Amino acid sequence: MKTLLLGGGIAALADGAGGTAGYGSLGRWLLGAPAAAASPRPLAIPTLLVGEPRAGVRTFDLNLQKGVSRFFDGVTTPTLGINGAYLGPTLKMRVGETVRMEVTNRIGEASTIHWHGFHLPAGADGGPHQVIADGASWSPQFEVRQRASMLWYHSHMVPRTGPQVYHGLAGVAYVEDEETGRLDLPGDYGVDDVPLVLQDRAFNRDGSLFYSTNMHNTMMGMRGNVLLVNGTVNPYFEARTQKLRLRLLNGSNARFYSLGFSDNRRFSLIGTDGGLLERPYETSHIALAPAERAQIIVDLSDGRPVVLRAFPAPTSGTMGGMMGGMMGDDFNFDVLDIRPNGQRGRSAPLPSRLVTLDRPDPGQASGARRLVLQMGMGGMMMGGGEPFSINGKAMDMNRIDEVVRVGTTEIWQLENRSMMAHPFHIHDVQFRILDRDGAPPPPWEMGLKDTVVVNPDERVRLLLQFADYSDPDLPYMYHCHVLEHEDSGMMGQFVVAA
Ligand code: C2O
Ligand code: CU
Ligand code: CU
Repeated sequence: MKTLLLGGGIAALADGAGGTAGYGSLGRWLLGAPAAAASPRPLAIPTLLVGEPRAGVRTFDLNLQKGVSRFFDGVTTPTLGINGAYLGPTLKMRVGETVRMEVTNRIGEASTIHWHGFHLPAGADGGPHQVIADGASWSPQFEVRQRASMLWYHSHMVPRTGPQVYHGLAGVAYVEDEETGRLDLPGDYGVDDVPLVLQDRAFNRDGSLFYSTNMHNTMMGMRGNVLLVNGTVNPYFEARTQKLRLRLLNGSNARFYSLGFSDNRRFSLIGTDGGLLERPYETSHIALAPAERAQIIVDLSDGRPVVLRAFPAPTSGTMGGMMGGMMGDDFNFDVLDIRPNGQRGRSAPLPSRLVTLDRPDPGQASGARRLVLQMGMGGMMMGGGEPFSINGKAMDMNRIDEVVRVGTTEIWQLENRSMMAHPFHIHDVQFRILDRDGAPPPPWEMGLKDTVVVNPDERVRLLLQFADYSDPDLPYMYHCHVLEHEDSGMMGQFVVAA
């Protein structure tokens, strides 16, 4: 194990240069223990960008750029960011308004920016068909047709989504509406309403990010032993001594987390991917797979410091769990050291009812589809075959896999025939989970979702409404959000046709 002394703390860095082969066969052993000891820093809060009105359209200027980040004292790391060195600003917008994104790419290679969780026309989606060449710009415009929620945006450049997101091409979006605005939830950005982007990363000894798509990392997805939270290692946050709203995004390429507090205190889950739940769900732990979001409210009025912690998620699957254990990969990470500062603002009691959602009614569905997720491990070991597939096929940009009729509701049954859990994501819609192996979803999965974990051997049924926007040619994607699985072919394309 190679370690570096960094400003009084110890961070474990991988011996990436020249050591890649050994790293591959030994998995994470060379990385050693997580780097919990880098000196504490205040949590970075992404800049809040409200855009500029131009001809009645809320316009955001987004520059994809190269940067240099200082995650550790005295160490520089080449990264990618949007309007900054690493990650991007938080884009704030309101339901019903039209937004325009002026995206310019200056990262030195082609990229895309996808609006994850947004319902929009396929041409504005920012998937692999909306490539922005290096030096070029792209300006999609669309109406915000969502519930109030926390969505996000990130590179979707086939087959470079994994490395581009890993180096920093991602950011958060806050969508607001009247219904939620009236609720009197904590909403002071960066003060009592704080986004937390969780990303595990591995580093080379020279400080650069370690990224490799060797067989192990492709299969397990690229994981690291250092947790970045909004790009901060070992962050603390001075909070008002009252209710704190955290908007969590698992922005990791592959790692699943189970989140809870160091003193096991209970908190309220109020929202998931696509918006608020009907009512708060009180719990002590929540699971968050790659691309999933959770909004939680934690009460700090006892004034005691507390640490938000990430534990290995039990849902990471047979293979994930087994391999994780074997590779010493089942880390605990401290996510955020929360220090109440004694300041008490007004803190309204949490409403018992948040929003109203329809009951998902499978009777509305006029169509049904099955998507079977497979990892051909044999083929992979032998270096042949289609290791990652959906319905037996690896992603092909030139093949439309499914044609959906606009204005219809469908049931999609996801079946996982592999040994790992896959966080499955579908573009364009916020769906509802009907059942898992025939059982109704738990309370924390009863809201609007755009990403759903499908465990090994499990069948998950979703109800999806394709209300509007049709395009005969341009497809939307569905895929596993373990980015190395996605880049390796576990992705398909559907069009919504008139
Ligand atoms: Cu978060 Cu297809 O993406
Ligand atoms: Cu998406
Ligand atoms: Cu997967």
